[in-house]
Amino acid sequence: MTQLIPMISQKEIKTQVQKTGRRISADYEGKKLVLAGVLKGAFIFLADLTREITIDHEIDLIGASSYSGTSSTGEITFTKKPDINLEGKDVLLVEDIVDTGNTLSALLKYINTLNPASIKICTLINKHERRETEIDVAYSCFTLEKGFIVGYGLDYNELYRNLPAIFDLKL
Ligand code: IMP
Ligand code: MG
Repeated sequence: MTQLIPMISQKEIKTQVQKTGRRISADYEGKKLVLAGVLKGAFIFLADLTREITIDHEIDLIGASSYSGTSSTGEITFTKKPDINLEGKDVLLVEDIVDTGNTLSALLKYINTLNPASIKICTLINKHERRETEIDVAYSCFTLEKGFIVGYGLDYNELYRNLPAIFDLKL
């Protein structure tokens, strides 16, 4: 039987997203900030985060998935590339969760070819257990040692993204 065990409440999420938005607003003052949300998992976090940022910024969406295959560096396939010209922009990649780090490392490599002024990572959850690629996460709302969580945009087989809080999924 599938069990959903409450892990992070709506209130805790709100507090952390507010804090992160405040930090980003201060750090990117005077810069050309673009929030680039990684589909699909980041859609709710991105929607809340953008409203906590008080400086002007642009928003883009990237659809990407990575697979290691035979190449150790990992390859990336896009379902949606960025629309905004990112050259000279200060790109902040917004992710739901960093797990192995493979998706982000492939994505960082691609974004770098577009010559942004800077590129950093903001994630709702930084999960350490299965990290394979070292990733420098500039902003993270929560850290998680292990487990599989759903809700607030995060899915299991495309379900549970709609849950307003974060739950531990036990199958
Ligand atoms: P990775 O960092 O390349 O391994 O991939 C991260 C992606 O895997 C995330 O964007 C999620 O879509 C998915 N993922 C990893 N861990 C979880 C989890 O605990 N719950 C839901 N999705 C997860
Ligand atoms: Mg997913």
